[in-house]
Amino acid sequence: MKGIDTKVVHGPRHEYDPLTGAHRMPIYQTTTFVFKDTKHAERIFNGEEHGFIYSRRSNPTVEYLEEKVAFLEGGEYGLATASGMAAVNTLFFKFLKSGDRIVASSPLYGGTYGLLEMLKEKYGVKVTYIHANLFHEELEDNLDDDVKLVYIETPANPTLDIVDIESTAKITGKYGLPLAVDNTFATPIIQKPIELGANFVIHSMTKYLSGHGDTIAGIIVGPRDVLRTMKDAELRFLGGILSPFNAYLILRGIKTLAIRVRKHSENALKVAEFLHGHPKIEKVMYPGLPDHPLHEVAKRQMNGMYSGMVSFIIKGGREAGRKLLESVKVPALAVSLGDTDSLIEHPASMTHATYSEEELRKVGIHEGLIRLSVGIEDPEDLIEDLDRALSQI
Ligand SMILES: Cc1ncc(COP(=O)(O)O)c(C=O)c1O
Repeated sequence: MKGIDTKVVHGPRHEYDPLTGAHRMPIYQTTTFVFKDTKHAERIFNGEEHGFIYSRRSNPTVEYLEEKVAFLEGGEYGLATASGMAAVNTLFFKFLKSGDRIVASSPLYGGTYGLLEMLKEKYGVKVTYIHANLFHEELEDNLDDDVKLVYIETPANPTLDIVDIESTAKITGKYGLPLAVDNTFATPIIQKPIELGANFVIHSMTKYLSGHGDTIAGIIVGPRDVLRTMKDAELRFLGGILSPFNAYLILRGIKTLAIRVRKHSENALKVAEFLHGHPKIEKVMYPGLPDHPLHEVAKRQMNGMYSGMVSFIIKGGREAGRKLLESVKVPALAVSLGDTDSLIEHPASMTHATYSEEELRKVGIHEGLIRLSVGIEDPEDLIEDLDRALSQI
């Protein structure tokens, strides 16, 4: 099984239920699992035999999804979580304690940034931020003995800045530090961080993996031995596990992941090119455009597609942005992304409102910045709608 279209449909193993022959993985909507006898229970508890105990610890529907995403990312093991944020905090709780340092790329999704600020203030975790585009150049100078985790988001939400994953992984590898990559914007269809040397991949599966805007979910993919310990401790005790029904929705979404992501990316490139030449637009942020500062890196690590996310700065700042958001008819005025439908929002006041005004300026989230999650509609309709809305400003 080589091609990605085959892999999303069939991999890593046929999902049908040997008990009934059901072609689709059933939703094992159960809290607990009955043991044959006490010896059987002992073997499962000891790990001598694979089996299920209780759905906070593992569940067959969720387990199949974990195998599938791990397979697509080229990782050994997956741990599905109740949300993308549950994946992020389960990883942070594994590697960080009071006094430790995390080095993270900047900007980050507002929730991840908010979590780090909370860990800093409440639990004494030290945080160093390095701008995404400069990350690999400045990382080595920012390492000290307290660093226990390096965490990057590429493309970055919402500025579409890029971290050079391979160059970063060479440095973390040299110092024996775990490198985790939030791959939500790119998906394994576009970018494979583990093949580029990263140790962990995080997803908000709420986005492209689900793809239909009807589920909140997350996952961590990485080495089996480390994730097994997290499954038995951080995830089990913090309890941010995924429900079997939501796992089923994501499995259903993944079947069309490859064709959706291709279409999202093609549409986004067309929209970015249209906005790039528009007189009412100051700047377009899209790694597929040749004037993106790390376009060459994006070309190398992103497989010729650049995701469905486009951000742009509108002339006239926040007021002009407000008018645009209220004039467009095809994209819905809503946060989230990776949906079949286009969604448009204002990061400074919405998804990234956890940043102070000063921090927003510092990380490049301009008050006139608009984030557009380009859906799978006809690109001509999207462009016509944007053109009409811009003409009203
Ligand atoms: C890049 C990125 N990572 C993580 C998250 C958190 O995911 P969730 O909303 O599923 O908790 C988001 C949410 O928007 C995101 O955009």
